[in-house]
Amino acid sequence: MRVIVTESFDQSCEIAARIIGDVVRNKPDSRLGLATGGTAAAIYPFLIRDYEEGKLDFSKVSSINLDEYVGLNPDHPQSYRYFMDHNFFDFVNIDRKNTYVVSGVGDLEKNVAEFQQKVLEKPVDIQLLGIGENGHIGFNEPGDTLKLSVHIEILDESTIEANSRFFNDKNEVPKKAITMGVGDILRAKRIVLVATGKKKAKAIRGLILGDELDCSNPSTVLKVHPNVTVIIDRELADMAGYKA
Ligand code: GLP
Repeated sequence: MRVIVTESFDQSCEIAARIIGDVVRNKPDSRLGLATGGTAAAIYPFLIRDYEEGKLDFSKVSSINLDEYVGLNPDHPQSYRYFMDHNFFDFVNIDRKNTYVVSGVGDLEKNVAEFQQKVLEKPVDIQLLGIGENGHIGFNEPGDTLKLSVHIEILDESTIEANSRFFNDKNEVPKKAITMGVGDILRAKRIVLVATGKKKAKAIRGLILGDELDCSNPSTVLKVHPNVTVIIDRELADMAGYKA
């Protein structure tokens, strides 16, 4: 695992975007594994900037997202489909029909099966990840065990609390989500994870410093992947006790 310590969150985001951009430049028909959340929202503007400056072309790119809330229509402002459209896809020349965010409404069993099939079609060239305060990746929450495949996850109280900042009221936060399993995430050829903020310090410490797979910190599964880059700012590195 490679750890990059930056001077600021902004710089972390710029570096992550450069890594993703390089993948697309080297392979114009790349398949991107994409993520949502506040961290990802700060990375997409750098990719959009490079597209606007003619340095990136997404016309042959395809994408698949990690997860989606159960119960939110794709046009709900807090759905992850809506997030992707309004934070990224609307601003670049990606062909919308080559983007996939699983639906969180309708026949959920069918959606899970469709999502799994899409994941298995071919590995993503690069997977962008954030991390939850409790160490979740995608929506794989801590527990006695971790699921390898696409499944419906019951969200942790702490995740609902953390994500309530995007909703008017905590009660509006969905209680469940459809997510790739950790085995699906590990299929990526390359993984780049970005984190910031003192609330992520414990999870990041377990990820970059510990020597064990710990189901109470799902991000630790990334330790077995051969090509992971973790990008954190100095403030978080210090809080996590990481010396570069
Ligand atoms: C959500 C997403 C995760 C994301 C996490 C952290 O729960 N399912 O994929 O990593 O939020 O989000 P943020 O970057 O807003 O802290």
